[in-house]
Amino acid sequence: MRDTAQPIYLADYQPPAFLVEQVDLTFKLAPTTTRVISRLRFSPNPDAVPGQDLRLDGEGLRLIAASIDGVTVAADPNATGLTVPAGALPDGAFTWEAEVEIAPEGNTALEGLYMSNGMYCTQCEAEGFRKITFYPDRPDVMAPFRVRIESDLPVLLSNGNPVASGPGWAEWDDPHPKPSYLFALVAGDLRATTDRFTTMEGREVELNIWVRPGDEGRTAYAMDALKRSMLWDEQVYGRAYDLDIFNVVAVDDFNMGAMENKGLNIFNSRYVLASSATATDGDFAAIERIIAHEYFHNWTGNRITCRDWFQLSLKEGLTVFRDQQFMGDMRSHAVKRIEDVLTLRARQFREDAGPLAHPVRPESYVEINNFYTATVYEKGAELIRMLRLLVGEDRYKAALDLYFARHDGQACTIEDWVAVFEEAAGRDLSQFKRWYEQAGTPKVTLLEDWQDGTLTLTLRQHTAPTPGQPLKEPLLIPVALGLIGPDGAEVMPTRVLELDSPEQVFTFDNLPARPVVSALRGFSAPVTLEHAQSSAERATLLGHDTDPFARFEAGHNLARDILQAMVLEGARPGPDYIDAMRLALTDDSLDPAFRALVLRLPGEDELAQTLHAAGHVPDPDAIHAARGRALDTLAEALAPELARVVDAMETPGPYSPDARDAGRRALRLAAASLLAHADGGAKARAIFARADNMTEQFGAWTALLGVGAGAEEGAQFYRQWQNDRLVMDKWFAAQVMFAKPERAPNIAAELTGHKAFDWKNPNRFRSVIAVLGAHPAGFHRKDGAGYRLVADWLIRLDGANPQAAARVSTVFETWRRYDADRQALIRAELERIRDRPDCSRDMGEMAGRMLE
Ligand code: TRP
Ligand code: ZN
Repeated sequence: MRDTAQPIYLADYQPPAFLVEQVDLTFKLAPTTTRVISRLRFSPNPDAVPGQDLRLDGEGLRLIAASIDGVTVAADPNATGLTVPAGALPDGAFTWEAEVEIAPEGNTALEGLYMSNGMYCTQCEAEGFRKITFYPDRPDVMAPFRVRIESDLPVLLSNGNPVASGPGWAEWDDPHPKPSYLFALVAGDLRATTDRFTTMEGREVELNIWVRPGDEGRTAYAMDALKRSMLWDEQVYGRAYDLDIFNVVAVDDFNMGAMENKGLNIFNSRYVLASSATATDGDFAAIERIIAHEYFHNWTGNRITCRDWFQLSLKEGLTVFRDQQFMGDMRSHAVKRIEDVLTLRARQFREDAGPLAHPVRPESYVEINNFYTATVYEKGAELIRMLRLLVGEDRYKAALDLYFARHDGQACTIEDWVAVFEEAAGRDLSQFKRWYEQAGTPKVTLLEDWQDGTLTLTLRQHTAPTPGQPLKEPLLIPVALGLIGPDGAEVMPTRVLELDSPEQVFTFDNLPARPVVSALRGFSAPVTLEHAQSSAERATLLGHDTDPFARFEAGHNLARDILQAMVLEGARPGPDYIDAMRLALTDDSLDPAFRALVLRLPGEDELAQTLHAAGHVPDPDAIHAARGRALDTLAEALAPELARVVDAMETPGPYSPDARDAGRRALRLAAASLLAHADGGAKARAIFARADNMTEQFGAWTALLGVGAGAEEGAQFYRQWQNDRLVMDKWFAAQVMFAKPERAPNIAAELTGHKAFDWKNPNRFRSVIAVLGAHPAGFHRKDGAGYRLVADWLIRLDGANPQAAARVSTVFETWRRYDADRQALIRAELERIRDRPDCSRDMGEMAGRMLE
């Protein structure tokens, strides 16, 4: 590992020695010899210790010349930047000018200025700007930017408003002071889809979505989502857009989903491009969500940014929460909530239960890119949801208005955030703030006692130790709870119980009969709830609860208990469960999207997680087999109903990605996939043959793969889509995802030899390697073949793109759940990854933390 592997601590924060009043940049673009000329107006920060050196970050830059106030300075950069001693600086403000040379063409890390398909683009968050020029590359240094781009390429874009352009050049001006991580530049042969939006303040905004020639036909949905996002942020948060132009660019080679650069959002093309023929309903929903997410960052992230990277959840947790609200408003709150909880548990609970657990606001990091996690994003959003529940809708609104009014243009902290809630709600939230500081998923235990019309509930909370945090304090946990009578009628509507100590007792009296307790309605807190309930009670909640999440959860718990018993005792699903599923499947009063979710069995990784939490050593093969038997049994028992649902859920008319049709297709395909376990895939084959959209084509093909069929369909799929990069990612992924466990590593290995396997493209790499890592029984094959293959590829990718490689390495984070043999195999792979002399800082930190 490099010597830059020193941790950075939140406690060491110091304000910047110098502020930047104005940035002027000129780019002379060339693939291997791009020149970047910078002119930075610095002034001493009145809030910092005076007389400090000027320290500028810079990595991989060839310094051509530098001067201060026109006088050449002999700067001598090292691997991380350069220092101009205080003695060599003028008193007061001064102008730094520098020219550097960089080589975007060879930049495979996709951070800083790089090239993708002949197009130049940038990715600066978190610390990529220092790979473009020397700069105090930290978010609490905010400045207006003016940018000139010189290139023969036809489209030249940067942040802010266009100022002027001519043949071979363009100039942009961004008047809103911003941190360097929001800088962006794009140059290429691109085509725009253009539209307009008039803000509530009367500003006429030009909207463009820029794509490669040939992709213009796939931008309509993203544009529609963008306009709806802009309107929603005005109506719900009172936030209007603040420039005359908003550009979105789609890029094929991109490390994450998308980036909120001021006025110039850059997207992974999979989250922009969609047509009914090439994108699934899930893809459309992801586009809608991510377009909204990046747009919402304009206020929560850009206008108000983070003081330092420890505060990352300040912008990410809040922006995720906002995109969740938006999606609920656009589609269905009930369905969206269930989906969000499923992702939270699959990704964040998993993270929180293993060696990579960290607080929503971490206290130290080696490589900040490793902290763009489910904890910072998804758990961060849950904390905001809890705050809103605790203070109420109106005070939430007041707190946000205060936040925007007080902190616009500032770089803020979690303290600033909690303070606006304390003021708006008139309430001390210091205990709540522990949620930001304490890692781990709290376990809440609920015990019931029933006597003479009185129900006594004892609630306990406990959080297990996490790395670096052996002792946990009690948290403020809102538990939304209601009571359902034995006849299914609600006897007590939702009440929010506030747990603030290790154990509390709540009583409910004058009840006519023992009710069924509906706890943690709406998933009111990110906790695991231990609440022993009979199958009959769960069936009552599934059938009658007034809270849709609790209904779903009752069915989910029913299934989980049965699967757990099948794994441990070889049991079979009983009639209770089958009848409950039949009811949900055939209840036409329920939203089809909801029924599709109820029909979905808990996944193999979730079962491994819950078995482990219950003190067992999960056996991935036994889990896979049990789940397969459960699917077979359900399919046999429900075959006629499933077949009827498949037919009834056909969507007449032309394809529409809207929630209603998408929900019908989701139920139709869920039913066909389950039915395939009984009918050999006859229905799925018919859907595939007649599909006129990717949702049904892909859904039907994977339904067949799920029962070991679908070879012919796969070949047809390949012939049809071999020249479409986004669809080909699906073709790769499906074959690994649905491979028989004993074949999964071999199939993945074969696919890496396919001529279309371009491993430097992060989407393509993940479509095979990360997907294998997400196939529990395949990845954890006893002989270690899955581990070896993934480690080999992580090592290769680490040499080209450490950030992407480090993200995928989290497939190993659950390793301590498993038996000694598997642990030994994984440990050896993690050590092999870590102990290379050229291991990146990113990967070194991840492997090191996992091994600790
Ligand atoms: N801020 C981006 C978002 O949440 C995510 C992001 C952070 C990112 N670092 C990145 C995206 C690097 C791409 C590459 O929307
Ligand atoms: Zn974000």
